[in-house]
Amino acid sequence: MSYPVFFRKNLLGIKPYVPGKPIEDLERELGIKNASKIASNENPLGPSPKVIQALEKALPKIHRYPDGGAYSLSHALARHLGMEANQLLLGHGSNELIVRLGQMVLNPGDEVISAEPGFFVYSSTALLCEAVPRPQPLRDFKHDLKLFERAINHKTKLVFIANPNNPTGTMIPLSDIEDFLKSCPAHVLVVLDEAYYEYVDDSSYFESLKLLPQYPNLVILRTFSKAFGLAGLRVGYGVAHPELVEVFQKIREPFNVNGLAMVAAEAALSDLAHVKKVTELNKLMRKRLYDGLVTLGLKPAQTQANFVYFETPEADSLYQQLLKRGIIVRPMGPKALRVTTGTEEETANFLKVFEEILMPSRVGNK
Ligand SMILES: Cc1ncc(COP(=O)(O)O)c(C=O)c1O
Repeated sequence: MSYPVFFRKNLLGIKPYVPGKPIEDLERELGIKNASKIASNENPLGPSPKVIQALEKALPKIHRYPDGGAYSLSHALARHLGMEANQLLLGHGSNELIVRLGQMVLNPGDEVISAEPGFFVYSSTALLCEAVPRPQPLRDFKHDLKLFERAINHKTKLVFIANPNNPTGTMIPLSDIEDFLKSCPAHVLVVLDEAYYEYVDDSSYFESLKLLPQYPNLVILRTFSKAFGLAGLRVGYGVAHPELVEVFQKIREPFNVNGLAMVAAEAALSDLAHVKKVTELNKLMRKRLYDGLVTLGLKPAQTQANFVYFETPEADSLYQQLLKRGIIVRPMGPKALRVTTGTEEETANFLKVFEEILMPSRVGNK
């Protein structure tokens, strides 16, 4: 069937998002029960037990619409961040906020700058809004904000900076972000996407929220999907100037964050000890994964997130061979793989299986 005439032309250029392969699919295909998914940057320990308790208590109330103003969660979050509730945007995942920010500022023909490789939703949002994505290559797997600066022109309306970056996991210091903001014209909205914030342990990274009073064109995004372990419930947030928040309130859906997600997020904020446990495990597994890959002769990017990225010309074949052994990682185009940190067991198993796959193929290539 040819493309029906009633669809907007800009949708032609958008490819659907390809998520990591569902674990259930692989288990069905292989007839196994213990497949391991280290593909979607999820938290292997899951949410805090306090989240489960709060959800059980909230379940009987799901016939009611949630609080559309998200009073309780936004005040808990404001306290957690040391910000005001009127500076917060809440979304069903930070993904929603990315799209809404695009819809808030982009007119057809405007330009959107982001890094390549980078998070897919930045460019799909640009296309959705009939804007033009202007991807900028990474340097040493990291954002090169000098390139971003040079790419800005009168048509530029939106800049996305993922810090740490997905898929490379690399981080740039806050001073680089500050220098960029100084050089950035006020008509450009800068979205600093800190989805992996809690996993970072480099001291030059923190305190981006302090930039907000000086830069009303800055929005900082974070999420409950990663270190807080709520990916399946979909809740993320942004921190921005109250006037931007007011405009967002006009265009979001009336009940954009569901009731259970709000209850879970608030409970998750009450158990930061659990987040610490998650990030400490991640730190250990990230190092184990990184060092293990180096030992196998690969050159992973320096990561500050909960995943490790490396380039290899055999990415597709390695991905397929890992699948056959019950392990799902994430191919990033034909020449790179991204592996999420798992539990100790998952990480050890991945390294063992990967070595077994890699070594014979190397011997064969000699
Ligand atoms: C850089 C980045 N931003 C945003 C998101 C979206 O996260 P969520 O919608 O689950 O909050 C992701 C998810 O993987 C991501 O990697």
